[in-house]
Amino acid sequence: MNIILLGPPGAGKGTQARYLVETRGMVQLSTGDMLREAKTSGTDMGKKVAAIMDAGKLVTDEIVIGLIEEKLTTETGAGFIFDGFPRTLAQADALAALLAKLGQSLHTVIEMRVDDDALVDRITARSTCSGCGEVYNDKTKPIPADGRCTNCGEQKEFTRRADDNEDSLRTRLMEYYKKTSPLIGYYYAKGDLRPVNGLADISEVTASIEAVLG
Ligand code: AP5
Repeated sequence: MNIILLGPPGAGKGTQARYLVETRGMVQLSTGDMLREAKTSGTDMGKKVAAIMDAGKLVTDEIVIGLIEEKLTTETGAGFIFDGFPRTLAQADALAALLAKLGQSLHTVIEMRVDDDALVDRITARSTCSGCGEVYNDKTKPIPADGRCTNCGEQKEFTRRADDNEDSLRTRLMEYYKKTSPLIGYYYAKGDLRPVNGLADISEVTASIEAVLG
């Protein structure tokens, strides 16, 4: 079963994808995580995309399609969760072609509906365990008082992303509305779209996604 988690920055795509990986053995393909890894490891591609990402703009279709193509042919599991991909109509067409080439298809596109005010609060309060990538939030999921990650149990640093500031978020939202939101109509017309209320508590959003996936 291959699914897309579609939604604006801070909608909760990463949070829900991690849950599906743990409970269903699916493979999370987050283009944001792949690009951040390239940035940290200082590859040529990482250097090329660093400034674009920090400013909140989208990197080129060519780069992200290449990253996804490589993962589709090397990773295995109980289906793929596309998190943050596709983000343009060209990426959506490329994904359909790649899956067809592998004899696979898309099961569902889960649209995570939220409102912009909630996104600002979520993004500016987010931090991530540098050991395992578990995502925290100062308001809704605070870092434990003993500084130990609830997921990996380690006392690692909790980091904030370079693009998690109000200026970059404004650009990220604009990019979403201009380039990514047309995918809602695209997948609706294909009959693949299933909306869930992303404003509910994390566990309620999980339950809605479970209900869609069956
Ligand atoms: P990416 O890493 O994909 O970032 P994003 O889409 O902006 O999404 P986020 O990771 O910020 O949010 P999320 O929806 O995963 O929310 P999360 O679960 O963390 O992309 C980063 C950049 O990479 C892009 O700007 C672009 O430059 C580039 N890029 C990536 N993919 C690309 C592509 N395909 N094409 C071109 N460029 C690409 O949750 C957020 C916070 O809210 C957390 O603190 C969490 O604890 C909290 N939270 C989650 N759910 C809830 C809830 N239900 N209630 C309360 N709090 C909640």
